[in-house]
Amino acid sequence: MVLVGRDGVRRWIGAETHVALIRHFGPHDDEKRLPIFPLLLSDTRADALPAFLNLFQAHEWTGIDPLPTELLNQISGRISVTSVTARIEGCPYVGLAAYTPKQAHLFFGRQKETLHALSYFNGRRGGPPVRWLQIEGNSGSGKSSLMNAGLLPLIGEGLLWRRTGFECWIRIGPMMPGVHPVDMLAEHLARAFSGPHRQEEMADIRHRLESSDDRALAEWLRGRKSPDNDTAFLLALDQFEELFTFAEEEQRRRFDRPLCGSGRP
Ligand SMILES: Nc1ncnc2c1ncn2[C@@H]1O[C@H](COP(=O)(O)OP(=O)(O)O)[C@@H](O)[C@H]1O
Ligand SMILES: [Mg+2]
Repeated sequence: MVLVGRDGVRRWIGAETHVALIRHFGPHDDEKRLPIFPLLLSDTRADALPAFLNLFQAHEWTGIDPLPTELLNQISGRISVTSVTARIEGCPYVGLAAYTPKQAHLFFGRQKETLHALSYFNGRRGGPPVRWLQIEGNSGSGKSSLMNAGLLPLIGEGLLWRRTGFECWIRIGPMMPGVHPVDMLAEHLARAFSGPHRQEEMADIRHRLESSDDRALAEWLRGRKSPDNDTAFLLALDQFEELFTFAEEEQRRRFDRPLCGSGRP
């Protein structure tokens, strides 16, 4: 059972929910699935439920009244019931295009893969931090959609907190490297941090990316962290292979260097 208060699902509950979701969506055999029952306390609204947890029917509970009989029956029968509250407006099919992060509510059937992929960002004590996830597969197998509508929204909801120590993630991209990956990176960085002085910001980033100091980008990003050091940055590249197929050699080198030499931004 996941008890959800008005602040929604965060930090420890989020970490435990992640484990529970893996145990629900992981097994092939329905018998082995962990049943999940979200319980909304007091004034909590169902839209406080994060992705994937909102696929289960939620019950409201005051904490004083007895639990609804329907829920007790579901618990004793270990029956997870799918939510029927999600309303989809318009056509739910996105056609030949990949799903975008804003279409996460239309993206189904990849829960297991999404949770699995996030598990790679492990926080194993003593081991080197995993900072890189590469998704490979045949053309049309759903790589872009998995990243856009699966991983990115969950990371945005703070799901990586327990694994990485960072709850707040600033997303840069998804960006296509193209012929001029450094210019694209500058543009997407400016977009991610767009303030009132976007043009000046972009000139500043470009200057840093052109600098021979490989740590210039990391320094610039460090200045954009929250004071409590709870912020991490995520660069989403799609398609990565453009760095090898399209990118100009000099731009590729300049793109690669600051990322490799950035330490732990
Ligand atoms: N979970 C899904 N359910 C339904 N259609 C999907 C799903 N994932 C991807 N698609 C569709 O499959 C096609 C290929 O997806 P895409 O993410 O572009 O793959 P790739 O990046 O591997 O080439 C697109 O038409 C996309 O809308
Ligand atoms: Mg793709």
